[in-house]
Amino acid sequence: MNEAKNEPFNLADYEQLARERLPRMVYDYYAGGAGDEVSVRENELAWSRVRLRPRVLVDVSACDLSTTVLGRPVAMPVLTAPCGMNVLAHPDGELAVARATAAAGIVQVLSTLSGHSLEDIAAVSSAAGGAQWFQLYCYRDRGITRELVARAEAAGFLALCVTVDVPVLGYRERDARNRFHLPPGVRVANITQQVAEIDRGSALLQYVSDQFDPSLTWESVDWLRSITRLPVVLKGVLAAEDARLAVEHGAAGVIVSNHGGRQLDGTVAPCDALPEIAEAVARAADTAEVYVDGGIRRGVDVLKALALGARAVLIGRPYLWALAAEGEAGVLRLLHMLRDELQRSLALAGCPRVRDVRPSLIAR
Ligand code: GLV
Repeated sequence: MNEAKNEPFNLADYEQLARERLPRMVYDYYAGGAGDEVSVRENELAWSRVRLRPRVLVDVSACDLSTTVLGRPVAMPVLTAPCGMNVLAHPDGELAVARATAAAGIVQVLSTLSGHSLEDIAAVSSAAGGAQWFQLYCYRDRGITRELVARAEAAGFLALCVTVDVPVLGYRERDARNRFHLPPGVRVANITQQVAEIDRGSALLQYVSDQFDPSLTWESVDWLRSITRLPVVLKGVLAAEDARLAVEHGAAGVIVSNHGGRQLDGTVAPCDALPEIAEAVARAADTAEVYVDGGIRRGVDVLKALALGARAVLIGRPYLWALAAEGEAGVLRLLHMLRDELQRSLALAGCPRVRDVRPSLIAR
């Protein structure tokens, strides 16, 4: 980072800027993970261990980053991940992210736990020409879940991204120490059920335990598919067996993810789980897509993800840091940084288009 101007040059620089601005409780909520945070660290390290075999003397004078996600054309193979309560980073929260992702030509995956209503965010996104998927948490009360799905459909979301790695919340010690809660004026805008402050520990842990359904099974996926016409993408898959089951149960895609290291600590890193899942999905279905998130901090990480079998990646914490530091403009700037890094990486790898990125780019 340029100290004099405090000017961010890469995604990691934004974390430092955000850390200086955010209250400790919020910074820790976003930055932290479960248990000893082994997975938080490992998610990033795993990308750094992948080695590439670039090709040379390929004409890369016009690198094209565009691709499609679930059939929708996008400017680059990146989506913003469904992070809860973007409004803790900036009052415009998810509205700012909707505008920035629309301007960058990519899809925003909106969390159930947003600080503005899904209808307000969808209106802003559609006015800006954006596209969105809705991340769904299944509430114990199926009526709430059903209503969220109906509202997401009515508001124009293109897919349901069902999180399957939160039967219970991971134990996040930073949140317990800080007695994480939502500050006055901040609400879960989509539902009546609110995150109420408690005497000890994390209010979110209590909320999830009270509200989210820990009894979800593959039959719940069938039920969800029966109540929606939207494609269903399952987020939080780390084993090829589950990826195969996802396809058998009609999922349009899976997101290889350990929830940013916030659920089970010590899982395989998404980067390392990706190849077996990509292979299993490719064998099981022609059309199902594989996505990955967790620890992506550089354009070259996106390149590695594509080579390891992902259609696109999701980024989470980095856009929260940019949002905290510079609002909507920061998120757009961050997305442009990632785009420029990816473009340069494609050129240096000898891949003029996203579809030229093949498994042979990986040194085994
Ligand atoms: C919510 O999904 C969280 O990880 O805090």
